[in-house]
Amino acid sequence: MPQNHIMKKINLLSFLVLICLTSCTDIKKEEKVSKKYAEEPHSFSKPNQAVIKHLNLDINVNFDSKQIEGTATYNITSNEASEIILDTKFLEIKNVLADNKEVKFSLGDFNKQLGKALKIPITSATKTITIHYNTTNKTEALQWLTPQQTADKTDPFLFTQGQAILTRTWIPIQDSPQIRVTYNATVKVPSSLMAVMSAENPKVKNEDGIYTFKMKQAISPYLIALSVGNIEYKAVSNRTGIYAEKSVLDKAHEEFSDMEKMVAAAENLYGDYDWEQFDVIVLPPSFPFGGMENPRLTFATPTVIAGDKSLTSLIAHELAHSWSGNLVTNATWDDFWLNEGFTVYFELRIMEALYGKDRANMLALIAKQDLEDELEGFKDSPEDTKLKLNLKGRNPDDGMNSIAYDKGYLFLRTLEETVGREKFDVFLKNYFKTHAFSTMTTEKFITYLNANLLEKNQVEFNTEEWIYKPGVPKNQSIITSDKFSNVEKVLSEFINKNRIDATITKNWTTQEWVHFIRNFPKEITVEQLTTLDTTFNLTSSTNSYIAMVWFEKAITHNYRGNNVDATIEAFLTNVGRRWYVSTIFKAYKNSSKVDEALAIYKKSRANYHSVTANTIDDMLGYKE
Ligand code: BES
Ligand code: ZN
Repeated sequence: MPQNHIMKKINLLSFLVLICLTSCTDIKKEEKVSKKYAEEPHSFSKPNQAVIKHLNLDINVNFDSKQIEGTATYNITSNEASEIILDTKFLEIKNVLADNKEVKFSLGDFNKQLGKALKIPITSATKTITIHYNTTNKTEALQWLTPQQTADKTDPFLFTQGQAILTRTWIPIQDSPQIRVTYNATVKVPSSLMAVMSAENPKVKNEDGIYTFKMKQAISPYLIALSVGNIEYKAVSNRTGIYAEKSVLDKAHEEFSDMEKMVAAAENLYGDYDWEQFDVIVLPPSFPFGGMENPRLTFATPTVIAGDKSLTSLIAHELAHSWSGNLVTNATWDDFWLNEGFTVYFELRIMEALYGKDRANMLALIAKQDLEDELEGFKDSPEDTKLKLNLKGRNPDDGMNSIAYDKGYLFLRTLEETVGREKFDVFLKNYFKTHAFSTMTTEKFITYLNANLLEKNQVEFNTEEWIYKPGVPKNQSIITSDKFSNVEKVLSEFINKNRIDATITKNWTTQEWVHFIRNFPKEITVEQLTTLDTTFNLTSSTNSYIAMVWFEKAITHNYRGNNVDATIEAFLTNVGRRWYVSTIFKAYKNSSKVDEALAIYKKSRANYHSVTANTIDDMLGYKE
């Protein structure tokens, strides 16, 4: 009996062990699978169930109907799932195949931000899905330009803008930054035009207008990009070069002639450039951003071509994204600061390496002033001033502001100064190497930072305060610039004594002028603005940055001389770069001149890409 009892106990025990062995490993397995992809508020896809791995895109670019149509075929992997979910927005889905057999797909309800979920039935054996589709005239990623809207004015132009969640408006896809795909593409365009993508690119036009592309490195969907236009290529070095329309090509080539030096400096700092080629395409002026870091082919605004290389930190910035963003990618748009804060830090290190500390510190101080302005603007919504955001239910664009960029920058600069540059550089180099071609959440970063920098060197740092608390902590790096101190002195002399010596300003750089103009006191008079404009011809500045900050002040302080109104209107009609356009329209709005703004906007809006138009629509309360 006791024997029996013991046996029973042993049996029970082994039974329990067995259960635990099977179910505990089950739990572990499940955890592994479900933890691979983070919760994502901006995509319908459920990548933990079924995920895309490789895209085969076969499309026709039709300038007459302003549509892209064709097929997207994906190789997929799944985890016993009965469907795979893709994101779509404003796409017409014609039919869907799973392993080449037509299947019954369904489209979910329309969400203003996210579009519609495309649900495709699969089995565990399904290897590929194919979607026949076309874009519609509501597409948000694409801007179709008439010849008149280009530099050469001879041919139409098309470009895409995927970040943050617009790729789904030209390709049905799992549109979350934590997804990575390799891709091949065949793109048919009118034979007078050339197509280029964020992939291996042609260097010359071909006669049939059919271009094939291969992107062998896995990238996030927001980085899939296409441009089609009458463009040419000019190499800067054997791995860097420029695409642009004929009339822009030489100027751009001259302006960006330091590209190779930038790549070399970047590699020297944080490890090999992993994308082989680093080219820049200069787009028509309606491009809504300064630049967009599409892998192998940065898209850039022509407004940075100033003739004196003074605005080329933009190239350093987009290049830096080849590490921070394209190699190590923010897992969700709530972690956007991991892309942009690191990139501003890296950008300024490249600028310092090429042009010295003076230039880098001027840029840093401009960034700091941007941050202070942004904090002032957010004084009633402190939640928006945290590095780690919560954008659920909002447009990820709401997070695209100086907090991610410049608070992110200041955090990293402060960290660098606390541990010392040498240790910080080793840490960053390892960070990129260890996490190359993967995604990063803020939490994962903090764990990595603690283990590999702070604890390792026994350094105390208020990381959590920087990341999870609003505003800027007290221990922020102190940035100084003799050049800017001098600018401030010159400005105060002018304001107080109406004296300005043109010999002092003769050698000022763009950054000094920007600092001078941005720091006009509230009480600056129209007479003083007139003196400055007559002496320095600011209204007719050919430097887009100087012009933009000057226009802002002219509007704010009611300066109307030198035909400035017409110049501003021409600027707003020609340039679609959102930062510029929104700064100027905001100046109208803040000085109770919404009617003037609307009068211009009604004419200029047709030239803007959807991301710029959406921002200004909201700002001015404009409805089509
Ligand atoms: N990746 C951004 C542009 C972007 C961010 C597009 C979020 C859509 C959503 C790009 O690298 C960038 O930061 N561009 C800046 C330039 C820069 C020098 C700060 C811009 O366009 O102003
Ligand atoms: Zn950026």
